[in-house]
Amino acid sequence: MGALTGKVAIVTGAAQGIGQATAERFAREGAQVMLGDIQGEAVEQLAARITASGGKATAARCDVASESDVDALIQRALEAFGPVNILVNNAATAIYRLLHEYTQAEWDQVIAVNLRSLYLTSRRCIPIMAEYGGGSIVHIASAHARATAPGNTPYVATKGAVVSLTRAMALECAPHRIRVNCILPGAIETPMLMENWGDVPADQHPLVPRIPLGRIGKPDEIARVVQFLASDESSYMTGSEVLVDGGLTAHFD
Ligand SMILES: NC(=O)c1ccc[n+]([C@@H]2O[C@H](COP(=O)([O-])OP(=O)(O)OC[C@H]3O[C@@H](n4cnc5c(N)ncnc54)[C@H](O)[C@@H]3O)[C@@H](O)[C@H]2O)c1
Repeated sequence: MGALTGKVAIVTGAAQGIGQATAERFAREGAQVMLGDIQGEAVEQLAARITASGGKATAARCDVASESDVDALIQRALEAFGPVNILVNNAATAIYRLLHEYTQAEWDQVIAVNLRSLYLTSRRCIPIMAEYGGGSIVHIASAHARATAPGNTPYVATKGAVVSLTRAMALECAPHRIRVNCILPGAIETPMLMENWGDVPADQHPLVPRIPLGRIGKPDEIARVVQFLASDESSYMTGSEVLVDGGLTAHFD
């Protein structure tokens, strides 16, 4: 029996990177997984691959910044698998500029995808989880909530906000036996990180010399921690931020 057998999970941003690794891991561990992503075709292909290899997954195109898309995604999960036990808020976007160069529309877009989306998904899932015995919500924040660099301000601001939101939601959700935790990944080998650095091989990534463990992380090294927080193995954890960064932010400089 898998660690998530009998659980129904929603994973956003599941078409690639950390979301894909989480979806694949959840399915291997026995969960029934609803996958959402703005890349509709890619996420449907992933669900088909999971199903072909014996897992249980279905997928829908979903812009997590859109109320109607999010509501439809959750409805699809209910119809396909029943009450939701696990919500992983993973989808995020970044636009790289100096602060004074963002248009207001660009700034608002990053905030909507990375922060408002957590409200849109959680407000629908909390009542369902509360009615059916509790659940686990995992937000993917970032090590950028701890230490950062110029040129990515709205992203960094949202990731700091996700950590605060995690604590506030944990307090509200605890009486309903819903745990809420977040993960702060460091540099992980996904399209988001690699494309921004000109697609150099991971071992030649400019951040490698700054990482005490000496390498970029793999998506499944985050997915494993998502699984831990999603499962009953972390039954006494709520309101926590879990840093998974190979030591990157332990430096003074
Ligand atoms: N890769 C890293 O180094 C790193 C580090 C820290 C935090 N993170 C966080 O991990 C999470 C996953 O990032 P990743 O590295 O896998 O990124 P990624 O860009 O490779 O994947 C993100 C996924 O989210 C989807 N997405 C983007 N906007 C969306 C929207 N509006 N609606 C629905 N889906 C949308 C994309 O299509 C993509 O499939 C994000 O929250 C990111 O901020 C990543």
